[in-house]
Amino acid sequence: MTLVGAGPGGADLITVRGANALRQADVIVYDRLADPELVDFAPAAAERICVGKGKGFGPSQSDICEVIVSRARAGLHVVRLKGGDPFVFGRGGEEVEAVESAGIDVEVVPGVSSALGAPLLAGISLTDRRLASSFTVLSGHHCAVSDHDWHTSAQSAATLVVLMAASTADAVAQRLIESGRAPLDPVAFVHAAGTDEQRVAYCDLTETARRGCPFPSPTVMVVGPVAARTTSPQMPSIEDRLLASVAG
Ligand SMILES: C[S@@+](CC[C@H](N)C(=O)[O-])C[C@H]1O[C@@H](n2cnc3c(N)ncnc32)[C@H](O)[C@@H]1O
Repeated sequence: MTLVGAGPGGADLITVRGANALRQADVIVYDRLADPELVDFAPAAAERICVGKGKGFGPSQSDICEVIVSRARAGLHVVRLKGGDPFVFGRGGEEVEAVESAGIDVEVVPGVSSALGAPLLAGISLTDRRLASSFTVLSGHHCAVSDHDWHTSAQSAATLVVLMAASTADAVAQRLIESGRAPLDPVAFVHAAGTDEQRVAYCDLTETARRGCPFPSPTVMVVGPVAARTTSPQMPSIEDRLLASVAG
């Protein structure tokens, strides 16, 4: 079995190794974040199984593992295709464990995570050395929002990249402000990065706490001075962004 990261959106953002695995697949098991065009990389005769999950629908994790194990045991080359990087908030590690414990060899092919790819495709440099020296990737999933140590994130000078926050961005922003992050800290939302549907919106933490995320999933939320609106990715208005962060 080969577990392949599809990249952040846009079929041509997969790695060469990942594309080669798809071309040799007997079975593709894919989720809804992987670009649909990637499924066409597989031979016409390959079996195509969509296991996309959403709120309240889709197969369970154990059902997905069962599908993979049953096909692999029959001697078929199964390619499990997951959006972004399979080990970043993707439960890829659990799938590898389940398949290996059934005695099946697994190769893992990394992908460009949306945590990195979505900001870049919107012209946001996560560690622009004039504005941030590190970044932290967080989950905005509602369980993670209640469990997370918001104080540490709020006090840190790191850029924050929040995945799965389309329906929790208001709560995330509220907790960051309550924990001491500057209320005017810039926020950018990048929706459907790398696809024809890509959209970017800019605001600040206060507005986000009031109005939430302007886009549905999949959207990446970026918090920090690097997330301020720029006229062009190549020509950031550094003075404005520094002023905004000081004012916050
Ligand atoms: C379950 S996580 C999986 C992350 C994936 N493993 C990765 O590395 O990108 C799903 C979240 O990834 C983000 N995401 C994935 N693809 C995206 C895209 N093309 N544009 C914006 N956000 C994306 C969204 O925050 C979405 O809610």
